[in-house]
Amino acid sequence: MAILFNQNTKVFTLQTKNSAYQMKMIDYGVLIHLYYGKRLEDCDLSYLIQRSDRGFCGNPYEMQHDRTFSLDYFPQEYSCFGIGDYRSDAVRVINGDGSNAVDYRFSSYRIEPGKYRLEGMPSMYGEEGETLVITMKDQSTGMELELYYGVFEQDDVITRAARIVNGTGDKVYVDRAMSLCLDFMRADLDWIHFYGKHAMEREFERSPLQHGRQAIGSVRGASSHQHNPFVILCGKETGEDWGECWGISLVYSGGFYAEAEVDQFNQTRLIMGISPDNFLWQLEPGEAFQTPECLMIYTDKGLTQLSHQYHRAVFNHIIRGKWKEEPRPVLINNWEATYFQFTGDKLLSIAREAKELGIDMLVLDDGWFGKRNSDNSGLGDWQVNEKKLGGSLRELAEKINGMGLKFGLWFEPEMISEDSILYAKHPDWAIRIPGRPANIGRSQLVLDFSREEVVDGIQEMVFSVLDEANIEYVKWDFNRSITNLYSSALPPERQGEVAHRYVLGLYRFLENFVNRYPNILLEGCSGGGGRFDLGMLYYSPQIWCSDDTDAVERLKIQYGTSFGYPISAVGSHVSACPNHQTFRKTPFETRATVAMAGSFGYELDLNALTPEEKEAVKRQVKEYKAHYQLIQRGDYYRLTSPYGKCRAAAWSFVSPDRRECLFCAVITQLQANPDGVIVKLKGLNPQGRYRLEGTEEIYSGSALMYGGVLLPIPREEYESYRYYFKEEEQPEA
Ligand code: DGJ
Repeated sequence: MAILFNQNTKVFTLQTKNSAYQMKMIDYGVLIHLYYGKRLEDCDLSYLIQRSDRGFCGNPYEMQHDRTFSLDYFPQEYSCFGIGDYRSDAVRVINGDGSNAVDYRFSSYRIEPGKYRLEGMPSMYGEEGETLVITMKDQSTGMELELYYGVFEQDDVITRAARIVNGTGDKVYVDRAMSLCLDFMRADLDWIHFYGKHAMEREFERSPLQHGRQAIGSVRGASSHQHNPFVILCGKETGEDWGECWGISLVYSGGFYAEAEVDQFNQTRLIMGISPDNFLWQLEPGEAFQTPECLMIYTDKGLTQLSHQYHRAVFNHIIRGKWKEEPRPVLINNWEATYFQFTGDKLLSIAREAKELGIDMLVLDDGWFGKRNSDNSGLGDWQVNEKKLGGSLRELAEKINGMGLKFGLWFEPEMISEDSILYAKHPDWAIRIPGRPANIGRSQLVLDFSREEVVDGIQEMVFSVLDEANIEYVKWDFNRSITNLYSSALPPERQGEVAHRYVLGLYRFLENFVNRYPNILLEGCSGGGGRFDLGMLYYSPQIWCSDDTDAVERLKIQYGTSFGYPISAVGSHVSACPNHQTFRKTPFETRATVAMAGSFGYELDLNALTPEEKEAVKRQVKEYKAHYQLIQRGDYYRLTSPYGKCRAAAWSFVSPDRRECLFCAVITQLQANPDGVIVKLKGLNPQGRYRLEGTEEIYSGSALMYGGVLLPIPREEYESYRYYFKEEEQPEA
């Protein structure tokens, strides 16, 4: 049993293999949080709370003259607004009488085998999970709350979600409903989060928590390039290989909020959930609001271990379908090769070359439909431009298939161009506030996916294209942030629901998609990684990591991404030189070294390559395929930080049995009269004897890990190295 409830102490303890989470029902049903950390057995940690009379910390009415009990001091399991806890609140409502307070007290609990699922929203799956549901009630109003906990014991994962039920006789508004509130009786913590912008996502930032509130989030209608819905709290001394850390991510693709507050008594609270901006959900009596899910992982073994656990948890319990296990195709995408300027013949010439070089699939990106020869028009018209393709899509796919290549296609289903047939027919399908000009982004408007008929209409068009030809991959793009939020289908008092209803509409479409086309490999995209989150990964096992294909900038982007997302999730391509985003020149081989740390492909005109480069492509594809399992399923080690002093960015993949290791490094700074760059490997068998592929050189695991690898003196800027080590069979004793 991973979920314990002690009837005497009224303590709930959730146990995983290496972690534990504890809360307790105390006086008058108040549910306090006691612990999340290293595994402990059934105990009662409430002795750690010092009861004393603290000035300006009020007390629940029932306590009368006992001033030692304050909601403003005790760590809370799910903090409520308006009843004396002045710290960050997880839930806030507008009651029928206009008041804001809600005071949830313990009512009942149930423990169930299997992990709960959320209807209409992505959530972690897995038979082996267990569920705890705690029901709370506000005695004054009748408002109810269900706190959901999912426990995956072996994977060290605990999930949380909340459901707010209107148990009153009045209409109530939910003003804020976080998925999680997590209190710590300490403040000596750092927080790590991943910020960015278009074409430079998920940059790593670590800072000490300060008194007061620090927050990240998105009000863009998508999880965004600017902040990722994944944060880590960790001890000051925590590094890659040691120390306590807590990873918390939201399984959600819309606007989100994460806030850490250090209070007056040097305690910390983290809340995370749907962005409370632009949010107000109306509940009629008996109705409920379900929050998305949060995933939490704790380890005392440092950030590398945290990432390994995240990679495993996401792979085992988020990623679904055929392409979870099946080797993903190495693809060539025509976007950076042609942009909108292509013909059917041009695509076929790229496909022909791709086949020669060992590539598996041609992906036709933007520009194949409607009036779409630039990004000013055509979105919403999901009809094939046969004139441009020189025939039907089926014919094109057949020709490509005939060459022995798979065929994939780009869509941007959530958008509409004003210059389109769809817009002429359904101008009201676009999100806009009546009487106010709508902001445009990339010259396009966003479709109102909170409306069922809009989702159904687009779905019908998309599905009919997919039914027309043998399409084995789809790239699902989303190229602007949402603004002017309003839905003509909802009354004024429900406009605060549009943002979340949009996400629910998107999830409904995606669920229909994966059910109807289980064989299609879906790749998520939002101008690169603007919606790189666990919500999207539930439907699309890989996501185009960034529109920045510059190998050197990708070092940071992929480094940041690796903290919370598995390597298989990272769409990554070799592109042309000079790079189209930065104009930087990097060696061809370096672009492959970086792109191989993901789901690999190419995005350039293969016909324009030199014979040497074509030979290199052949070798690279072969090498990637040979190491596919190691890269996709091995343990990923960040060996140096691209933000650090080391003149090389380095990482490695180690097989679960520790017998194989692929070491990769890119020189990031040149130096005259250079000192040696030594990188220490990790995760090997210290006693093992590892042969460096292509040589007779043998090193012990301990030499590689404690001594390290000496990089050669680089002969050009951004030189890179890929060393494959394999353990020799041990001679019989
Ligand atoms: C943004 C994507 O990230 C690119 O890869 C490409 O698909 C363009 N959109 C097409 O408009």
